[in-house]
Amino acid sequence: MGTLDGKVALVTGAGRGIGRGIARLLAREGAAIVVNDLGSSLDGTGADVSVAEQVAREIDPSGERAVFNSHSVADFDGAGAMIGQAIDEFGRIDIVVNVAGILRDRMIFNMTPEEWQAVVDVHLKGTFNTCRWAAIRFREQGGGGRLINFTSSSAFGAAGQPNYAAAKAGIIGLTLSCASALARHGVTANAILPGAATRMIDSIPRTREAALAESGKLPSELAIGTERDPDNVASIVAYLASDAAQGVNGHLFAAYGYNIGLVSQPKIIKTLRADHRWTVEELCDVVPRAFAAELAENQNDPGIGEKMRGIPDEQWVEARPGLRFWGTKLEPYGEQVW
Ligand SMILES: NC(=O)c1ccc[n+]([C@@H]2O[C@H](COP(=O)([O-])OP(=O)(O)OC[C@H]3O[C@@H](n4cnc5c(N)ncnc54)[C@H](O)[C@@H]3O)[C@@H](O)[C@H]2O)c1
Repeated sequence: MGTLDGKVALVTGAGRGIGRGIARLLAREGAAIVVNDLGSSLDGTGADVSVAEQVAREIDPSGERAVFNSHSVADFDGAGAMIGQAIDEFGRIDIVVNVAGILRDRMIFNMTPEEWQAVVDVHLKGTFNTCRWAAIRFREQGGGGRLINFTSSSAFGAAGQPNYAAAKAGIIGLTLSCASALARHGVTANAILPGAATRMIDSIPRTREAALAESGKLPSELAIGTERDPDNVASIVAYLASDAAQGVNGHLFAAYGYNIGLVSQPKIIKTLRADHRWTVEELCDVVPRAFAAELAENQNDPGIGEKMRGIPDEQWVEARPGLRFWGTKLEPYGEQVW
């Protein structure tokens, strides 16, 4: 018995990296899988149908529990065909996991409109495309469904990725909108900020060079079986896809190695109210004084993974052997009831 017995899942970008691990785990938990992957290079050029095919064959060589396709998620009709394939092959769709992604990193002052558009098309439009087709079907099926979308801590200000940061921030908004709109149909929508050594990480020059110099291997090769293994991200996705997570809707989870973090939603932290329209002169005077501490403490921060890894040992509370807990609400790190 698996937690996803009888369910049908589409996983985009499932031919490599994080998506491949998700497709395999969802299948092990009992779901039938549509494995989607364009089979493109990291910058989104090229295509190779064998990338999706291989993962589907690994999951089920007979093709009874796993099928594949190589449509681009950026293609609206192609995304519709993915949902159609789930229904034709397995009779329904219950879970959509949007993992497909590319990179075209460039500083804002060097970025071309084409580099901007290609990344926005795959990440933001691609996620809209599958969510849109799935939402229609979820409603027709009479309720229930899971949207699990991949965003990134880069959304909070990665300097060399204006296209990617904007698309990933857009995915957060899209996910939260779906969560609000579809809750009445029993659908949940949540987003994941992952961290794992895949070919995306191999593409970071400093990280790649350091790994090659030390071991002659790429970061993704060194990661297999370690905390940096992309397969580690799949567990939280399978949980969110399960009936056990029916009440978890509209949240952001960070999944870095063996850390699962719950990310806060933006909220007002301090307000100034006047009895008239503010003058610019008043704001020049008051804002630096009133918000000084908050402006300093509340910087944008694309480095969530490093922050999580850097939590000092003494700040963790042991919940049970092998499981530790850290939370801002625990200060000064009192007893945690598990
Ligand atoms: N690896 C990380 O640390 C990290 C960090 C933050 C966010 N992410 C996000 O996680 C997701 C997975 O990343 P990964 O590291 O496994 O990358 P990856 O490059 O290993 O895998 C991405 C897969 O998506 C496929 N793909 C690309 N464009 C597609 C399209 N138009 N249609 C269908 N498939 C397409 C690729 O062929 C590839 O197999 C991405 O959305 C990425 O932005 C990853």
